[in-house]
Parts: sequence; C-alpha cells; structure tokens
Amino acid sequence: MRQILVAGNWKMNLLGTAGTALTDGLSAKYPTSSVEILVCPPAPYLASVHAKVSGSAVRVGGQNLYFAPQGAFTGEVSGDMLRDVGCSSVLVGHSERRQCFGETDELLAKKVAAALQHGLQVVLCVGELLAERQSDQTEAVLKKQLTGLSQVTAEQMANVVIAYEPVWAIGTGVTASTEQAQQAHAFLRGELKTLYGEQVAVATRILYGGSVKADNALELLSQPDVDGALVGGASLKADSFIAIIEAGIQAMSRRA
Ligand code: 13P
Repeated sequence: MRQILVAGNWKMNLLGTAGTALTDGLSAKYPTSSVEILVCPPAPYLASVHAKVSGSAVRVGGQNLYFAPQGAFTGEVSGDMLRDVGCSSVLVGHSERRQCFGETDELLAKKVAAALQHGLQVVLCVGELLAERQSDQTEAVLKKQLTGLSQVTAEQMANVVIAYEPVWAIGTGVTASTEQAQQAHAFLRGELKTLYGEQVAVATRILYGGSVKADNALELLSQPDVDGALVGGASLKADSFIAIIEAGIQAMSRRA
C-alpha cells in the first residue's frame, strides 16, 4: 500500500519567524502521523525549520539543488549541503524552475541523479501547460518530462516520488477535476510500468499539485492513483495545511 505524502512547497514566501511559527504548529500537532508530511521552505531557512520539526513526523525538503558536488557555481546549493542542513528530500523540476529559470529535462535528469546519490528523496515535478492540454499534448509532454528519470535505476525508484502539477492549475484557483487528475496519474503510472515494470509502477507515489485546498483535498486524495498532494498557497497557513494533512489521513485510513 502506498503511503500518502502531503508536501508543502513554500516557494519564495514566509520570512523566518512566520515560517518557524507555522512549523511549530505542525510539529506540535504531528509528533507521529500515518501520512508522510514534508515542508519545503526557501533555502536560507532550511536549517532553522529542520531544528523546529526534529522529533516530529514533519520532514524538511529543499526546493531545488544543483547537480555538481561542489565548486564555482555561484548561488547554487548541492545535495550534500541539503543533507547537511537536515533535508531528507528535494523538489526537482518544478514548473517554475522550468519556466522562470529555463531548466530542461536534460539538466533535470542530472539533478535527479545527483540528489539520489546524496541519499535525498526526489520529488520530480511534471505537468503540461494549458495550451498543451488544449492541443491534446498532455500525454506527450508528461512522457517527455519523465526523461528526468533517464539515469535512475529501478532500485533507486524507491526514493523517487512523481508530482503531477498541471501548470494551468498552479496558483490559479483552478484545480484539475478529479477525473483529469486520475487520468493523468494513471497515464504516468503506465509509463512507469513501461520504464521499470509492474512492481516499481505500483510502488511509486504520484502526488497531485495545483490549487489543492482544504475543501478539494479529500476528493483528490481519494482517487486510486493520487497518492498525496504538493501544496503551494494553502501550505503557507497552518490551518489550511493541517486540513489537507487531515484529508490525507482520512484517505489513508480508507486505503488500509
Ligand atoms: P498552488 O497550490 O498555490 O496552486 O501551488 C502548487 C504548486 O506549485 C506546488 O508546488
């Protein structure tokens, strides 16, 4: 049975005290949890957030990394550094990285490989633009974006999570319908089966992201191939993020 993962991507939001106040609330509420809980703060706050959540069920992840182990790469952060400040995970290939910073599938494949080498769980984000969905390109786009896994072995897939985030649903308030989400997730699982076989496909978690909120989380998380949520805006407030975690706990208990 796949364990539901609820992840909060803070993006470039929340200064130090606001972030630690949020994580104080989360770690107090979840000393343990039946779902995996991950928060991804901006890089300068990773260590302080990790200090706040240690001893609770809440884990910390980076939003990005560079593939080189160290060296002259001004502004970048290595997988080793993420581990050093307490991260157990990292987001790779978020659509904002692809769109604002020109990250390509080739670059992302290197980042995925580097993160796994450093023992980080990778959350590889994929998702189509509105124009791509409207021109029936969704599956072709997702298939191409899965080339981010080109250097990943079947064994390493145990440490990989896929996040389906249709770009048109990110920060827009427009959520994919449960049917659209389930269909894309089932397609992705089918592609994983082609790449790695049935066992890996069945074991790999596929999260949905894009305007997930307290009031739509349970319905999305109740879909058979939706194994969690990658939450942006609604992860910035304790109340709404906790409500989504609670929906995850409910969906998880139905799976059991
Ligand atoms: P929103 O939940 O704000 O739509 O953001 C989704 C997202 O991009 C999470 O990575």
